Amino acid sequence: MTNDKKQPSVNDGLSRVDGRLKVTGAAKYSAEFAIKDLVYGVLVGSTITKGKIKSIDTKKAERASGVLAVVTHLNSPKVPGYQVATDPGKPAVKGPVKVFYDDQILYNGQPVALVIADTFERALFAASLVNAQYIAGKHITNLKDNLGKAVSTHDDTEYKRGTVDAFKSAPIIVEQEYMLPSEVHNPMELHALIAKWDAADKITVWDKTQGVKDTQSNIAKLFHIPVENVQVNSKFVGGAFGSALQVWPHEVAAIIGAKVVKRPVKLVLGRADMFTSVGYRPLTWQKIGIGATADGKLVGITHHAVGQTSTYEDFAEGPTNISRSLYASPNVNSSNKILGLDVGSPTWMRGPGDATGAFALESALDELSYKLKIDPIELRLKNYAETDPESGKPFSGKNLKDAYKLGAEGIGWKERRQEAGSVTKDGWLLGYGMSGGVFGADREPATVKATMLADGTLVLQTAVSDIGPGTATAMVAIASETMGIPASQIRFDLGDSLYPNAPQQGGSTITSSVGSAVYMACKDLKEKFQQLIGNGGEDKPNYTKVLKQHHLTQLQVITDSKAGSEVDKYAMYSWSVHFVSVLVNPATGVIKLGKVVCVADSGRIISPKTARSQVIGGAVMGIGMALMEEAIFDDRYGRLINNNLADYHMPVNADIPQIEAIFVNKPDTNINPIGAKGMGEIALIGMAAAVANAVYNATGKRIRNLPITPDKLVDWVALT
Ligand code: MOS
Repeated sequence: MTNDKKQPSVNDGLSRVDGRLKVTGAAKYSAEFAIKDLVYGVLVGSTITKGKIKSIDTKKAERASGVLAVVTHLNSPKVPGYQVATDPGKPAVKGPVKVFYDDQILYNGQPVALVIADTFERALFAASLVNAQYIAGKHITNLKDNLGKAVSTHDDTEYKRGTVDAFKSAPIIVEQEYMLPSEVHNPMELHALIAKWDAADKITVWDKTQGVKDTQSNIAKLFHIPVENVQVNSKFVGGAFGSALQVWPHEVAAIIGAKVVKRPVKLVLGRADMFTSVGYRPLTWQKIGIGATADGKLVGITHHAVGQTSTYEDFAEGPTNISRSLYASPNVNSSNKILGLDVGSPTWMRGPGDATGAFALESALDELSYKLKIDPIELRLKNYAETDPESGKPFSGKNLKDAYKLGAEGIGWKERRQEAGSVTKDGWLLGYGMSGGVFGADREPATVKATMLADGTLVLQTAVSDIGPGTATAMVAIASETMGIPASQIRFDLGDSLYPNAPQQGGSTITSSVGSAVYMACKDLKEKFQQLIGNGGEDKPNYTKVLKQHHLTQLQVITDSKAGSEVDKYAMYSWSVHFVSVLVNPATGVIKLGKVVCVADSGRIISPKTARSQVIGGAVMGIGMALMEEAIFDDRYGRLINNNLADYHMPVNADIPQIEAIFVNKPDTNINPIGAKGMGEIALIGMAAAVANAVYNATGKRIRNLPITPDKLVDWVALT
């Protein structure tokens, strides 16, 4: 591995090692396994938002053709791991919703019954025959009207550096509120699993999950069975973005169902259930106050946020964290509260917290640049943090200035005019915008088993999942370079709880964590070969020859890897900068994106092709956040009115312009030996603000409540 300088690798042109399997349909996703005696489960969701189940009549459903069982709270086997509030008088212990546990309804669409039949169609039909009657209570699903009821529940909800509200004393001030609607992950692959009990205390699941080891231990805990008796398989995952980081009620329901019918049960969520049953990015209100001196030096930032959660779970992101460390402001104070509503729980979604916070902070900074009449990049350079303003520590590696420069060149920033609404092109208003993004860079413990087989095949095994970024490809590239063998001779096995420990694929940590473990395992394996060879070894060992000489069928190492004392020495982040040009039709408010340029400063780029795809995907998701995505509640009924892909808008190919992905590509060897940092989150974080800032530059209209739909841009004239 080259640590000190950028050097093209032989694997820079490597295509997805599992790409052929994916495009030919040979890759098997969790619901696609043909298991003997398989039966099908369909969930019935509550039609009220809050209250109690008065009665539930399952007779008709039970009598329908092919039905094996209908499970409800009245007949469900107990889940031993469900916690109860033991202390009378104390509020119930908060946590994930307990499926088929009691008669309480906590959100609209909460599962109240599971119908199991011999075919999917029969289960679906029988589910329509379940007749639940409810006693409805009064629900609250509106965040904006109830901001005053928000509470702090976590230790780090408040932050203060220097003087509180120092921005108010600054000569130039921006103080504004921002709304980010709730967004739904909606990966292409629906959440799905097959659950099969192998014995009373032994189970196998084929499950869509971002972490096979976490799913394994969570199932073991819920059902009070030994961890090693839970086998989790997740070979391919068709996208997740955070929605598969935990065990959801539908997974517990399928496992309960398989116990009841004593047969393997397959459960695939419907698209509508994907909106309510596997989390979403929480609807969040934010207020930012930012002040600067007349020459653009930040005086202070005040950042408050209230995010939506459910009544039964205190889920909180950190949308205000970004204001602590992105810029060198001497004074920063923030608060981050949550408000429990009668909705299903939100969860982590790509760029959690920081994507939300970046929209507010980077919009506010843009507003400030217009008040100051300073170029937005210049304003950021004036407040560039050379060391971490929060901890005072040096950064492990930061090349954000390079990123600004590369991005400005890529988009043609010099064409931008500082005066908003001043440029037209063929009758459309033309504007440019930019925004930064940042996300903490981590390295988690990971273990890799590396085996060199007699035929020269290197097999790497670890229990990571791959939700799409191209994990196997990056790992093969690292191993190929370290061992000095072609990528075609390397196999990377994942998605099996029998393999050694790996972290969940979340928080942009896998290349750093598992990549380092692969690198170290390969170094160990090579060392083992050198010892066999003796005499100080060889520069380029012929592994098959050495194995043969020593009458060995294989040579194997199992290597543990984790972060060391560097985590105390450095502040570790990845950065991004997004640049956008837009055209806005002044009559209709229609927005056409001209060009997008995204620059990532995320250490060494291991796998250029999949890294590029990762950045493009993040940009597309950011465009959706800026212009289209919005889960809309009808607060009268407390239910979503656009829980389908026709009414919940997201970008299609026709909405997406040319996207250029640029990498600073400077290794950060202070974080790990391979010099690579996370990229999944920063590809998205900041993108929405870049679009909003470009729309402002084009039109002079500042939209602070996403998405920026055309109706928010046109000047309505009375038609009467
Ligand atoms: Mo994610 S929210 O890192 O799966």
